[in-house]
Amino acid sequence: MVFAPDFLQDQVAIITGGGTGIGLEIARAMARHGARLAIASRNPAHYEPAVRELNAIGPGAVGVKVNIRDAESVDAMTAEVLQRYGRIDILINNAGANFLSPAISITPNGWRAVVETVLNGTFFCSKSVAPHMMERGFGRIIMMAATNGWNASPAMAHSGAAKAGIINLAETLAAEWGPAGIRVNALCPGPVRTEGSDERLWMDKELVARLEQQIPLGRFALPADIVGPTLFLCSPASDFITGGIIALDGGDRLRNLRSFMGG
Ligand code: ADE
Repeated sequence: MVFAPDFLQDQVAIITGGGTGIGLEIARAMARHGARLAIASRNPAHYEPAVRELNAIGPGAVGVKVNIRDAESVDAMTAEVLQRYGRIDILINNAGANFLSPAISITPNGWRAVVETVLNGTFFCSKSVAPHMMERGFGRIIMMAATNGWNASPAMAHSGAAKAGIINLAETLAAEWGPAGIRVNALCPGPVRTEGSDERLWMDKELVARLEQQIPLGRFALPADIVGPTLFLCSPASDFITGGIIALDGGDRLRNLRSFMGG
């Protein structure tokens, strides 16, 4: 363990989309470090097995059914967590939605599904927990942006636009809420290979190897590459970081600069 085993003891964290994939990996790590958790998801089937597992490895976890696209549902989630635990220290805005499509074929409903989940959901959840955090003068909000919020996002115009919105939102909320003791930061992973990720994307081994060769650190991200920085942003080690937009891409965004060196 890199962090003190109990550095999250007594703290309460909401993790949206915490029942599967990267969200669950983050939840496991936070539970092991002593956090009490609320795993928020639209589908109880997505969080029930996770909640059982998390209760076995940490001091407590509950599942909360929420539709983050709906501000009223989000406020009900916040009220339920406050009733259960009496406090909220950390919000991890992890839930997302995405699908591959050329921009020309994205329907209005497809566009709305992604942008409302990723961008509206992140804003609704952050705004919903903020009054409580302001009252206590303490809060840590972490947003999952992505490198496609910085660059062009071919085949994911909706996701890229929403992630770009998150990057700006993290900076704005950090500026507005810093004086109230709330730190807001965004993480920008590139592609992450998780157990739940679409294996079709990774099937062409030759292509994957070629793409990995172009990444300065030589590989795509694994969930652990996202978990460590998330714990860091929850910890006092990052107490002077707010409005941080942190790339978790193995240096992939620097590729153009490398080409000057014949890399
Ligand atoms: N995960 C994906 N979409 C979601 C939504 N609308 N609400 C909660 N969790 C989600």
